[in-house]
Amino acid sequence: MSNETSAPAGGLRRQSGPFRAGDRVQLTGPKGRMNTITLETDGEFHTHRGVLPHNSIIGQPDASVVLSTNEIEYLALRPLLTDFVMSMPRGAAIIYPKDAAQILASADIFPGATVVEAGVGSGALSLWLLRAIGPEGTLHSFERREEFSAVASANVTAFLGATPANWDITIGDLADTLPEVTEPGTVDRIVLDMLAPWECLDVAADALTPGGVIVCYIATVTQLSRVSEAIRRTGLFTNPESSETMIRGWHVEGLAVRPDHRMIGHTGFLLTARRLAPGAVLPELKRRASKSDFSDEDVEAWTPGSLGERSTSDKRLRKTARHAQAVADAAVSAEASE
Ligand SMILES: C[S@@+](CC[C@H](N)C(=O)[O-])C[C@H]1O[C@@H](n2cnc3c(N)ncnc32)[C@H](O)[C@@H]1O
Repeated sequence: MSNETSAPAGGLRRQSGPFRAGDRVQLTGPKGRMNTITLETDGEFHTHRGVLPHNSIIGQPDASVVLSTNEIEYLALRPLLTDFVMSMPRGAAIIYPKDAAQILASADIFPGATVVEAGVGSGALSLWLLRAIGPEGTLHSFERREEFSAVASANVTAFLGATPANWDITIGDLADTLPEVTEPGTVDRIVLDMLAPWECLDVAADALTPGGVIVCYIATVTQLSRVSEAIRRTGLFTNPESSETMIRGWHVEGLAVRPDHRMIGHTGFLLTARRLAPGAVLPELKRRASKSDFSDEDVEAWTPGSLGERSTSDKRLRKTARHAQAVADAAVSAEASE
């Protein structure tokens, strides 16, 4: 990953306070239509309802109402991380904010932690992890497709205004590259978001510190079952715990108080386990063997094709990466010209 635009982990774009040149601003017009711009001194935002000079936003408090030259009101808000990840360029499917929040809690991500994530995909989870570990923490991300890592890198840079110095991306399969990047027993937390996390359990177990947490984010029940059994079979972790997170929005207006008609029905499952100390054996494993064996035929049911994985073409990915890089370049140059 290029370090040309690296910034100290703590010295990245401000997330609060009055608007400054270089800030991203979400403008909501009279019909609820939203546009996101990056503020530049003397810049202008042109709409068919007139021109909005950036200078009329710079210096205003966050969440101000500003006027275009035609006296049309726009609400100016600094996008939250949730807003950004839901609208940023995507190479791979992202982890939604509801799951990212739960991952931060389940994996017990703490300021100063050394964290490993794979694959990096579009970088949505990377942004949440970087925020949670803070400037004292370290995030090692792994991705086997270079084009995805380019999208992720550009997205993180676009949101933070620079590439954080406490983050690196290694291109390659986690199973091959993790031992090259981290010393055994030094990683506090590992988050796996990939099709076949069971292929990476050995290296994850070696890298984790005793008591360290592994969280797998998995899309289907067949994968959940397989990784859960694979974790048990290693004998190196506590019993895995599985869950899913559903958020149901509510419409609350006057006396019309009811659940929203629509909700996100399914994204993925979370599986959490902790690394046992070297030589430790789970007490219950001493008493009985696992009853949950599976055969080679069952394993066939877990191929990428059977699981409905759609692969993204290299051409499409390169296009997404170029788009993400253009957004990142604009963010960096706006930050630099400030
Ligand atoms: C669903 S995406 C990850 C999305 C990401 N968590 C986010 O929030 O934007 C899964 C990624 O894992 C990568 N991947 C799959 N298996 C891998 C492995 N063994 N090592 C490294 N990357 C892997 C894929 O190339 C893909 O980009």
